[in-house]
Amino acid sequence: MQRPGRPAPVAVALDAPDLDTAARWAALVTPHVSTVKIGLELYLRYGPDVVATVRGASGVEVFLDLKLHDIPATVAGAARAVSRLRPEILTVHAAGGTDMIRAAVDAAAPGTCVAAVTVLTSMGAGDLAALGMPGSVSDVVRRMAVLAVAAGARGLVCSPHEVAAVRAEVGPDVVLITPGVRPAGADQHDQARVATPEEAFRAGADLLVIGRPITRAPDPGAAAAAVAASLRRAVSGSVPR
Ligand code: C5P
Repeated sequence: MQRPGRPAPVAVALDAPDLDTAARWAALVTPHVSTVKIGLELYLRYGPDVVATVRGASGVEVFLDLKLHDIPATVAGAARAVSRLRPEILTVHAAGGTDMIRAAVDAAAPGTCVAAVTVLTSMGAGDLAALGMPGSVSDVVRRMAVLAVAAGARGLVCSPHEVAAVRAEVGPDVVLITPGVRPAGADQHDQARVATPEEAFRAGADLLVIGRPITRAPDPGAAAAAVAASLRRAVSGSVPR
């Protein structure tokens, strides 16, 4: 089914406790956003069927956020296992390294954008220092981004704070995906590096991941519509690519 208008470049994180809730959230937000994101909580509880359930008849794009991270052969097997679900986006951790990222890219369905997660948006400089990773968050993100793209990743996940620097490193063709997005005044929850939807978009993000500010709102459909409207305003009347 074709959806009316051009939905906003937002992936709503369906981090729901059960399948009925996820399907309800998906139905409410799908008229307004391009994408719904299925994460580990939902996928591990309900398995592959969850993809068809949230995709429904709407034609919304599915972002399978499994953040694969293992030896290359295991990640290739996992990417192959989910390829029949035809997700538009599948995530791996960039920290898995060149061979692991390449294995995922080779094994994924042809239409799937393998996106490498750089540094989780819940982590700050202190967390990286505790892990023994030298440099600022931005340095680490840029190093991971360059490595992941060289390994074949067509997408990258980073915080809105690093989008401009990453874009400068990897050029215009890589899809930059940013979690850590909070409408002005919304609760930050456990996210450490946040920005508003407008700021993230203006910095060069292609797809904004937003979960709790939409799904935990009294009316998730209205909250998604409000984010979409704010993005339309940010680009003076037209929804960005
Ligand atoms: O509710 P909230 O907007 O914080 O949800 C953010 C979503 O983005 C969660 O599903 C989380 O797993 C995901 N994510 C993230 N940071 C990353 C990659 C994905 O927060 N680096």
